[in-house]
Amino acid sequence: MTTLVTKKIVVLISGNGTNLQAIIDKLHNSELANQKVEVVAVISNKADAYGLQRASDAGINTQVVLSEGINSREQYDLLLSEAIDTFQPDLILMAGFMRILSTQFVNKYIGKMLNIHPSLLPKYQGVNTHQRAIDAGDSEHGASVHFVTPELDSGPTVLQAKVPVFAEDTAEDLAERVLTQEHLIYPLVTQWFLSERLMMVNSQAVLDGEILPENGYAAD
Ligand code: GAR
Repeated sequence: MTTLVTKKIVVLISGNGTNLQAIIDKLHNSELANQKVEVVAVISNKADAYGLQRASDAGINTQVVLSEGINSREQYDLLLSEAIDTFQPDLILMAGFMRILSTQFVNKYIGKMLNIHPSLLPKYQGVNTHQRAIDAGDSEHGASVHFVTPELDSGPTVLQAKVPVFAEDTAEDLAERVLTQEHLIYPLVTQWFLSERLMMVNSQAVLDGEILPENGYAAD
């Protein structure tokens, strides 16, 4: 009998954790290219993040590294990185982790950390992306999965999903429409990475040996 190599994922969250749930449902304890995939830990900077409950329900280790009361970004990131390193992950997924990371932290994990952002990057980096898309009168909006680099929400994009914006949309309507797409693209990109089809080379995202364009993989 051959023993499968385990590919280990640590997920960082701050809130509800619906993207975490999508990763758990589609990938946790699955087999991929003769490897086992396991979400080994979920780490939150907020003690009341509902995603922690989702992780416990799935039998996954949880850890809270509280940001409250810690004034220096570098100091917090050191604690976070100590927590992450206990699990020796192959991949770190930021799934609604609402903190800006220090350059030192990002560089430590460069090429093995992905983020999902609720806009069609490079549009609307930062927060309130749905309201900003509505205010700008955009006809389409969406989400992007990208490698994390030191510049906020600016690492190479791997995959985007677009949704229409309707005249009567509120930010909540749009957030819900975008989230549905996030739950599809994040597990897919995670699979690409874990099966070693996707990597970051010279600050560019490379899929199946091809450098991806600025907006990531496009099927059309
Ligand atoms: C998601 O929409 C994610 O794209 C966004 O937070 C939400 C988390 O939802 N992330 C960011 O804004 C990061 N800049 P979830 O907790 O239900 O997965």
